[in-house]
Amino acid sequence: MPEILRADDDPEYAVARAASVLNSGGLVALPTETVYGLAARADDAAAVGRIFAAKGRPAHNPLIVHVPDLTAARAVAGHWPAAADRLAAAHWPGPLTLVVERGPAIVEAVTAGGASVALRAPDTRITRAILQRVGRPLAAPSANPSQRISPTTAEHVATGLGDAVDLIVDGGPCTVGLESAVVDLTTDPPRLLRPGTLHLDQLRRTLPTLIEAEPAPSAGTARRASPGLDRRHYAPRTRLVLAGRDELAAAAAALPRPLAAILCTPSAELAAEHRWVLGSDPPAYAAGLFAALHAADRSDCRAILVERPPDDVAWRAVHDRLGRAAEPA
Ligand code: TXA
Ligand code: MG
Repeated sequence: MPEILRADDDPEYAVARAASVLNSGGLVALPTETVYGLAARADDAAAVGRIFAAKGRPAHNPLIVHVPDLTAARAVAGHWPAAADRLAAAHWPGPLTLVVERGPAIVEAVTAGGASVALRAPDTRITRAILQRVGRPLAAPSANPSQRISPTTAEHVATGLGDAVDLIVDGGPCTVGLESAVVDLTTDPPRLLRPGTLHLDQLRRTLPTLIEAEPAPSAGTARRASPGLDRRHYAPRTRLVLAGRDELAAAAAALPRPLAAILCTPSAELAAEHRWVLGSDPPAYAAGLFAALHAADRSDCRAILVERPPDDVAWRAVHDRLGRAAEPA
């Protein structure tokens, strides 16, 4: 098992220990408001290589670079457009990643050889303190094996990555619970590459020209805008089926038992051995979704039935993750 430090027990020690592991080329899982990240110094090619190995991540899929603030982001970018200033002022620190032109401070492996870099200032106190202490940007993808469900607790990280990570800083459950929105500012018009809990309508208040990226192409087609937009992603091992409220009972009858159900509101008619009720408020639902998927996947169930949430822009990120989780292998 990797070393695990609870941030609340002794924050000063956790910051010093995390910085020391990172500075000696190690991998540290860090809590952010979205999901836990698997961090290494973004200027250390060997450490960045260990991230790809630990996750089993294809080398063509670039990593998000984390910075403490706007000043650090500007230092890392080759070009920092005015739109980046506006979005960062409105939403940083927070669940928004900005893709801009890459500067020389980032090793090639981080950006998969590409000319752009994805930057984010996360909003947890302990991780911001670690970023400040290290004084270098940190590359940190979600701390899960490639294509599996992202971790929203330290325990998810330990179970998924085990000894491949040197230290886990346990900051408790992530409050947002879904990965950041990714906005590409290198194109005209700018594109939303990955929907997040900050949704299109909210982002357009700051950036009216923002458009949604085209749906992810299926495997084998031309190069994608964001390699992480592969169709199958965020998937539990157990078969996952999505059904509308009215179709739940019929879907349940057709599935093998034991059955796990993930619902918005309680449903008395639905027979399921395991159930999670996540509510009808998009932020609260998002905060609980990955923990429910992890728990369902670890239960003895043979299928996971998920109630399809309402069709509304505030649910777009949830629909995106559920749609990917339900894709056949
Ligand atoms: O909330 C988050 O963003 C979390 C936390 C840890 O910050 N990180 C995260 O990283 O979700 P990851 O690596 O699992 O997802 C990064 C996404 C991938 O879809 C990747 O392809 C895309 O961002 N990405 C990274 N760099 C990019 C770039 N230069 N251009 C386009 N897409 C990029
Ligand atoms: Mg990920």
